[in-house]
Amino acid sequence: MNITFLLNGETVHAEAPATRTLLDWLREDRGLTGTKEGCNEGDCGACTVMVTDGSGPRALNACILFLPQLHGKSVRTVEGLAAPDGTLHPVQQAMIDHHGSQCGFCTPGFVVSMATAHAAGRTDHDDVLAGNLCRCTGYAPIIRAARAAEGAPAPAHIAEDGNGLAGRAPVQDATAGAPFLPATADALADWYAAHPDATLIAGATDVGLWVTKDLRDLAPVAFLSRCADLGDIADTGEYLRIGAAATMTDVLAALRPLHPSYAEMVRRYGSEQVRNAATLGGNIANGSPIGDNPPALIALGARLHLRHGQTRRELPIEDFFLDYGKQDRQPGEFVEAVTIPKTAPALRCYKISKRFDQDISALCGCFNVTVAEGVVTGARIAFGGMAGIPKRAAATEAALAGQPWTTQTLAAASAALAEDFQPLTDMRASAAYRLEVAQGLLIRYFEDLAGTGSQVLEVTP
Ligand SMILES: Cc1cc2nc3c(=O)[nH]c(=O)nc-3n(C[C@H](O)[C@H](O)[C@H](O)COP(=O)(O)OP(=O)(O)OC[C@H]3O[C@@H](n4cnc5c(N)ncnc54)[C@H](O)[C@@H]3O)c2cc1C
Ligand code: FES
Ligand code: FES
Repeated sequence: MNITFLLNGETVHAEAPATRTLLDWLREDRGLTGTKEGCNEGDCGACTVMVTDGSGPRALNACILFLPQLHGKSVRTVEGLAAPDGTLHPVQQAMIDHHGSQCGFCTPGFVVSMATAHAAGRTDHDDVLAGNLCRCTGYAPIIRAARAAEGAPAPAHIAEDGNGLAGRAPVQDATAGAPFLPATADALADWYAAHPDATLIAGATDVGLWVTKDLRDLAPVAFLSRCADLGDIADTGEYLRIGAAATMTDVLAALRPLHPSYAEMVRRYGSEQVRNAATLGGNIANGSPIGDNPPALIALGARLHLRHGQTRRELPIEDFFLDYGKQDRQPGEFVEAVTIPKTAPALRCYKISKRFDQDISALCGCFNVTVAEGVVTGARIAFGGMAGIPKRAAATEAALAGQPWTTQTLAAASAALAEDFQPLTDMRASAAYRLEVAQGLLIRYFEDLAGTGSQVLEVTP
């Protein structure tokens, strides 16, 4: 497949094999070695590039970004941050002024993340830089540099990236096995029905690692990155309908005013670079028992919309997860959307991980219990990391239903959690720890609803 995009302001045409990463292409084919390879799995941010399209600039990890995903977009690497006359970008100058670099290995990734935030007018530097790892300078001088550059005007050559090449269609290669880059969900549906063994690639934050770590050959593949209609988020009145290809960044923005606790959990989902790529559909379709969205969606009572060709069906999302590695999805069928209620004031989501930022959950508990006149009138509770699938806590819910919302009822519900779950011990947590924490989260939820909850980021004397 031949694709076209802007690279540091210049139009480039590239022959794009399905799973060639941008990082390899930049370093090996273009000699642009400023973009570094650290982990090659999306964890360190050394390979951060700025990608601009119709929705603005965003930071992405080039190590798990495949070339076809870039068609029609604008890519800026560290080599393209300074102005054509050599004037440093304000964040580069600030990094020098504030001593933000020692060995310098992480520095290109940091300055690209900082320049991307600068272009978008963002000042939430802790969130922006949580996906960039520095082992020697320490973060204080880097954050000082980011703050110092805040007021500087955006350089003109970066602002021009927004003009992009959005309208241009890729030259689709008709040979068997060539990557498919549909522009609509309809086109995807027809193609996938005819190629049911193909691999779909949305954000590639899972699939990327199949290539960089497992060295898998994935052909044939279809990329969802140009299916704009598959990423729509629509308010249907009572519900929010979130397209499968909506990124976690877009999902976070949509959730903030409606479900702040869920949104707060998503703020800790991977990193800025991961959220900018990862999609809601990918997080559901991969069937992972430790994905963060499924427990929240189950607790909300979300419905999953699946599509095969022109045939659509929907189901409660908990019914999608059948067993470890097994979902209710037929060959050629894909996730089209999720609908969630817009109101759930009692929803609380708790993510427990070894690190606060940029870590996969050891477990994740989501609670949505409604209480009227002191009595439980409805309970939806779901956990990730406690079984082979994201799972609803049926016995716990039954122990709560119709009971007074008291600590005594809570004790009975806590005992029922041990009936619902027999978790595994793995590298993230032991079985005993998981169960104890799950029981602790039930108490935390009770305190939260009573207004006496704990905030892990708040330190009180
Ligand atoms: C550094 C890092 C940090 C991470 N942190 C977290 C975290 O904090 N929490 C968390 O839950 N996950 C995390 N993940 C995992 C990953 O980001 C998520 O699972 C993500 O949502 C996957 O979405 P994607 O669009 O990247 O999927 P892809 O990698 O493109 O695809 C994943 C799977 O879903 C399939 N697929 C994708 N879209 C569809 C569709 N519409 N219909 C049918 N099948 C589809 C693909 O074929 C593939 O099997 C992390 C990953 C990385 C690399
Ligand atoms: S090399 Fe570490 S995130 Fe890409
Ligand atoms: S300056 Fe050495 S890793 Fe950041």
